[in-house]
Amino acid sequence: MAEIVIADPSLVVVIGAAGSGKSTFAARHFAPEEILSSDRFRELVSGDEADQGATRAAFGRLHRELGRRLAAGRTTLVDATSVESSARRPLLAAAAAAGLPAVAIVLDLPSATVLARNAARRPRVVDEAIVRRHLARLRAALEGPEPALWREGFADILVLRDPVEVDRLTIRRQPS
Ligand code: UTP
Ligand code: MG
Repeated sequence: MAEIVIADPSLVVVIGAAGSGKSTFAARHFAPEEILSSDRFRELVSGDEADQGATRAAFGRLHRELGRRLAAGRTTLVDATSVESSARRPLLAAAAAAGLPAVAIVLDLPSATVLARNAARRPRVVDEAIVRRHLARLRAALEGPEPALWREGFADILVLRDPVEVDRLTIRRQPS
């Protein structure tokens, strides 16, 4: 069984397209209070978790709360797509400011799996073109002999490509 060891405390960034299973993964391995979800912050600022117009304000709040939690030495998982380097940068900066390591867990599942999960989702189905854009951005960050993601400052990067692998993964926390 695959096991990953994460320093405790640390920042955990789950990276994946809409529908790749980030929230499911987060809920399985982390306590609710440890999870900062972009959808929850959208709901908080606008009353609607799908309100893309609330993105700026939602991430402003998420980044502030992340900074507070990491400064207090509390392990925190960020549940947002984070497929763009510009989205990851402020997260990495928050970890660096707190002197904590950042770990990336990448859900790089087959496009067909992600699209099928998104399509089957109720009540919220994300537009397929948006999911495809997420998948393309993610692949771009992972491609080549020296993937861009490797140069961003993560202490550890785990790329999961098989849904079975995701299901079997266990996470061990190493107090530090
Ligand atoms: P999630 O709702 O966990 O995806 O799963 P996500 O990455 O957080 O999506 P966004 O970014 O918030 O939009 C998407 C769908 O896939 C199913 C879930 O039940 C949900 O309906 N799913 C997830 C599985 O069937 N198996 C899994 O292992 C994970
Ligand atoms: Mg989610």
